[in-house]
Amino acid sequence: MTIKPALRFSALALLGLLPGPAAYAQSAPATITVQVNKPGDAVSKNMYGLFFEDINFAADGGLYPELVKNKSFETDDHLIGWKAIRGAAGFESYLVSSDRPISNANNHFLRLNVRKAGPDAAFVNEGFRGMGVKEGAEYTLSFFARRGPGNVSGVTATLEEPGRGQGPETAATGKSLAQAQITGLTNEWKKYSVVIKPSATVAKARLKLAVEGNGSLDIDVVSLFPKDTYMNRENGLRPDLVQLLKDMKPGFLRFPGGCIVEGRTLAQRYQWKETIGDVASRRPLVNRWNTEFLHKFTPDYYQSFGLGFFEYFQLSEDIGAEPLPILNVGMACQFNSAELAPISAAKGPNAAGHDAAGHEDEPTLETFIQDALDLIEFANGPANSTWGAKRVAMGHAAPFNMKMIGIGNEQWGPQYLERYEPFAKAVKAKYPNMQIVSSVGPSPDGENFDKATLKMRELKAEFIDEHYYAKPEWFRQNADRYDKYPRTGPKIFAGEYAAQSVAIGSPDNKNNWDCAISEAAFMTGLERNAGAVAMASYAPMLAHVDAWQWTPNMIWFDNLTSYGTVNYYVQKLYALNKGTRVLPVVMPGKAKNGTDNLFASAVTDAPTGDVIVKLVNYSTSPRAVKVNLAGAKNVGKNGKAFVMASDDLNTMNTIQEPQKLTPKEETFSVSGSNVSYTLAPNSFTVLRIPAKR
Ligand code: AHR
Repeated sequence: MTIKPALRFSALALLGLLPGPAAYAQSAPATITVQVNKPGDAVSKNMYGLFFEDINFAADGGLYPELVKNKSFETDDHLIGWKAIRGAAGFESYLVSSDRPISNANNHFLRLNVRKAGPDAAFVNEGFRGMGVKEGAEYTLSFFARRGPGNVSGVTATLEEPGRGQGPETAATGKSLAQAQITGLTNEWKKYSVVIKPSATVAKARLKLAVEGNGSLDIDVVSLFPKDTYMNRENGLRPDLVQLLKDMKPGFLRFPGGCIVEGRTLAQRYQWKETIGDVASRRPLVNRWNTEFLHKFTPDYYQSFGLGFFEYFQLSEDIGAEPLPILNVGMACQFNSAELAPISAAKGPNAAGHDAAGHEDEPTLETFIQDALDLIEFANGPANSTWGAKRVAMGHAAPFNMKMIGIGNEQWGPQYLERYEPFAKAVKAKYPNMQIVSSVGPSPDGENFDKATLKMRELKAEFIDEHYYAKPEWFRQNADRYDKYPRTGPKIFAGEYAAQSVAIGSPDNKNNWDCAISEAAFMTGLERNAGAVAMASYAPMLAHVDAWQWTPNMIWFDNLTSYGTVNYYVQKLYALNKGTRVLPVVMPGKAKNGTDNLFASAVTDAPTGDVIVKLVNYSTSPRAVKVNLAGAKNVGKNGKAFVMASDDLNTMNTIQEPQKLTPKEETFSVSGSNVSYTLAPNSFTVLRIPAKR
């Protein structure tokens, strides 16, 4: 009889042919020696951080809590998110107009011509897969309005549950959750604002604006914004999501991506200058993930830029992370159009890349370089500098103290290298202390990777951004990847990684324990090689359960709640236990890390004096280990363990069971300078042992 390996253990155990856990615990423990007396490289202070990209409705509909989709009618199809009720029965006509708009930047609005006063003269906004609202919480409803000919007397705004079984086009009414009457409209654009409090908690509410009276009304910049934001900031962020991020004590925040930096075409690239200043004047741009995947077609996906570069810097500060903006290097996504900005200015745009009329000329590399230099001035410049003044005007007088900049996202090939070099030189010439993150492409090996790595070493980039999206076994097999990496020259930024349970891009990938424990195993290699690896971030970070395009992701959310995946808790355990200096680890029988699916790394933590040992047992058996702290002095009598373990590698946290697998805290006793510990099957264990030297 052949038994599949995965089934072998349980089948034999059932037959009573294998010893039970107690017997394993009694078998001779494997000795792991942590050389406390031979401290190695310092662990980078911002080693574990965050990768943010607006994918999976991570920004609008996620971290950025505006509830109205397409509030300014500026998307390409101007009515995305909006519908007239009852087939527009109440309207003579409605149209998107540009007749005397609020501003040049915000030059489309909704013009409603009411045929006959009545409840049918109403427009509905659907939100981002509905609007999540909480009972008794406060929401600021605001809009700009202007009366036209006729007798419009006001607007009734109703936050309501959608009518059962009906789409907004037909449903006249749902259950009202809150209502406000806005009167006193004038013939000029004016902003109206009122605070409403829903009478119930609803995950998929919608906002209805009904016109009172008949005649014409112009309406624009409709917003429904929760008062409860992180640190109560105006135009702030969703508190539960920020808290999950802050809880990780992240060392850095990489933003705004990801491929979104590049755009599918250069015209659709991310331009930070379009994302600052007055929120109502930020023009939306199509999100490059909208129709990227046929299995998750989301043509309504735009970037409102309500969460823009100022907000990213502010978020970094709020969660104690170093800001790490990644900028376009003059290349559109190489998986899409691969458009290139010419290296020399054939048409000679001015420094800002705009022609005399203020329209963007065909951008050249100089345009991109200038954007980067201006960004550094925006983040760090004094109040009397052009861009520093804009930051100050937005309410942040002190510099953001940005120290790192990424040149290009995930670029490769000669086109990248020939743009990177003058770009990096220009940044260094003006800001010699700015640390540069460079790309070596989407794969962690191959010809492009090797060539780019050599070049970046030659050019003395500070950080090389390596990406790996691969099967869980790749992660376990590559735990020694950095053992032979040079300790001099650029440091590695593991800028995007996540184990893919099926395949990269597959909608069936799961955030399961098999992936997370394999990432934990791989990360023993990141930690052990602190002399080579300086930063690491799981990617992507956020996903809406009803609106995602890409899986797996670190944190999932719906309109009301959120949860950390098992992968999140692995990242968090590393981040909270990163220590300050690596300690060499000698594995049982001097074997290689990962032999017999046992992985380990160790650090010492100067502020607490603790020795911290990370252990991964990727096997269906418990495993007894004896951890010997060689040369340790003043070892305490008791230690703390944080354990994640599951017999089932398919275990996942979900929106229904958000805490199914999280770290459990235990205590253990220490005998002299030895710890005897039995690692649970399929477990990731962090041992903290007090050992002041
Ligand atoms: O994380 C999702 C995508 O994967 C990123 O946008 C890109 O950089 C990588 O290919």
